[in-house]
Amino acid sequence: MKNVLITGANRGLGLGMVKYLTKQNKAQNIIATCRTVSEELKTLSAENKNLAILNLDVTNTASFGDISTQISKIVGDKGLNLLINNAGVTTKFTKLALVKTEQLLENLIVNTIAPIMLTKSLLPLLKQAAEANGDKPMGIQRAVIINMSSVLGSIAQNEQGGFYPYRCSKAALNAATKSMSVDLKKDNILVASLHPGWVKTDMGGKNAPLDVDTSVSGIFNTISKLAEGDTGKFLNYDGTELPW
Ligand SMILES: NC(=O)c1ccc[n+]([C@@H]2O[C@H](COP(=O)([O-])OP(=O)(O)OC[C@H]3O[C@@H](n4cnc5c(N)ncnc54)[C@H](OP(=O)(O)O)[C@@H]3O)[C@@H](O)[C@H]2O)c1
Repeated sequence: MKNVLITGANRGLGLGMVKYLTKQNKAQNIIATCRTVSEELKTLSAENKNLAILNLDVTNTASFGDISTQISKIVGDKGLNLLINNAGVTTKFTKLALVKTEQLLENLIVNTIAPIMLTKSLLPLLKQAAEANGDKPMGIQRAVIINMSSVLGSIAQNEQGGFYPYRCSKAALNAATKSMSVDLKKDNILVASLHPGWVKTDMGGKNAPLDVDTSVSGIFNTISKLAEGDTGKFLNYDGTELPW
C-alpha cells in the first residue's frame, strides 16, 4: 500500500484509519481530507511527515479538479493505490410519515453523488497506480476503491424499515460500486463496498458494540487480502460477504 486517500478523516472511522496507517507505518503517503481539521489530525500530521491534510468538502464537486491536482503532486508518477470514500452522513430513524426532502437530498449528495464524482476525478491517478504495478495481481498493490457503505444499505437485510435517506443513499452507493467494478476491471482497479460494523463514533453512538480500533484493523486486514474475485462485492469489515 503506497499512496492512500481517506475522505472525512478528521474524526470517527476516517481519523481511526489515519491513526492506524501512521502507527503501522504501512503507507508511503497518507492523504487525509476533511472540511475542518481536528486537533488530533493536526497532531498526527505534525508527527508524521508522510501525512498530508487537504481541505475538502465532498459536496463541493467543483473543487475536485483542484484536489486531484494537489493529490497528483503528492503521489507523483506512482499514482493512487487506495481511495477510501469514507465521509458520510445520516439522519436519525426516519419513518415514512416524517421523512423530509432535504434529508433525502443531503444523504444522497454526501453518501452517493460525492463518492461517484470524486472517484471519477481521481481515476487517472488510480489507473496510474494500477499500470505502474502491472506485474502484480489485482488488489492493494495495484489500485483499490473502497466505498464505505453500511448494512443499512442492504435491501436483502432490511427487516426494520425506516431510515429512508440513509438506506437509499447507501443502496445507491452499492449500485455505484457494482458499476465501477464492471467498468474498471479492464483497468485492473478493484472496487468494493465495505460495512465497517456498528462502531462507536458520533454516527454509530455509544451503544455500538465495536470500537474504532477493532473496526479499522478489520477493515485494513480485509483490504490487504482483496483479490480479483472480490471486485464488485459488498463486504463486512471482517471480510465476510454481505447480501446486496
Ligand atoms: N459508525 C458506524 O456504526 C457506521 C456503520 C455503518 C457505516 N458507517 C459509515 O462509515 C463512514 C464513517 O462513519 P463514522 O462513523 O466515522 O461517522 P462520523 O463519526 O459521523 O464521521 C463522519 C465523517 O464524515 C465527514 N463528512 C460528513 N459530511 C462531509 C462533507 N460534506 N464533506 C467532507 N466530510 C464530510 C465528517 O466530517 P465533519 O467533521 O466535517 O462533519 C466526518 O469526518 C460513513 O460513510 C458511515 O456512513 C458507519
